[in-house]
Amino acid sequence: MMRVLFVCLGNICRSPSAEGVFREQLRQAGLAERVEVDSCGIGHWHVGKAPDRRAQAAANQRGIDLSALRARTLAAEDFERFDYILAMDHDNLAAIEARKPADCRAQTELFLRYAGRPGEAVPDPYFGGDDGFERVLDLIESASDGLIVEIQRRLAGS
Ligand code: 4NP
Repeated sequence: MMRVLFVCLGNICRSPSAEGVFREQLRQAGLAERVEVDSCGIGHWHVGKAPDRRAQAAANQRGIDLSALRARTLAAEDFERFDYILAMDHDNLAAIEARKPADCRAQTELFLRYAGRPGEAVPDPYFGGDDGFERVLDLIESASDGLIVEIQRRLAGS
């Protein structure tokens, strides 16, 4: 079993979108039983809430239902549980690294590395317009494609 955790600030826009998109891609790749996916946020403001309705609407248009997801914050146990802890932006990554135990073996990095965009962030769409949510999904789909390839390689042991 491999485990992937997506992290953003509020856990109501970017990381739940990544969770939904990546889970669907895993299903299509026949990997749903072999990879566990979750998401969380750094900030606590939206804990317990469903994803932002704009994020849900944009995902629905691509056949992805985010309605069952509920926001939570990054927990100490996450550093033991997950193989990949993937940040949406540099602030998220800095917060993850600041809390990462010295003996933690999880890979902590920016998610867009897997879209062939090293050093780039998924822009925060929360205070912008609806086109920001489309852009988020485009970037997430691209990075998810790359992450599927990476995980297939690791599961194959090569
Ligand atoms: P997310 O977006 O990090 O992609 O979930 C945000 C959601 C809420 C806030 C900021 C970003 N906020 O400041 O409340």
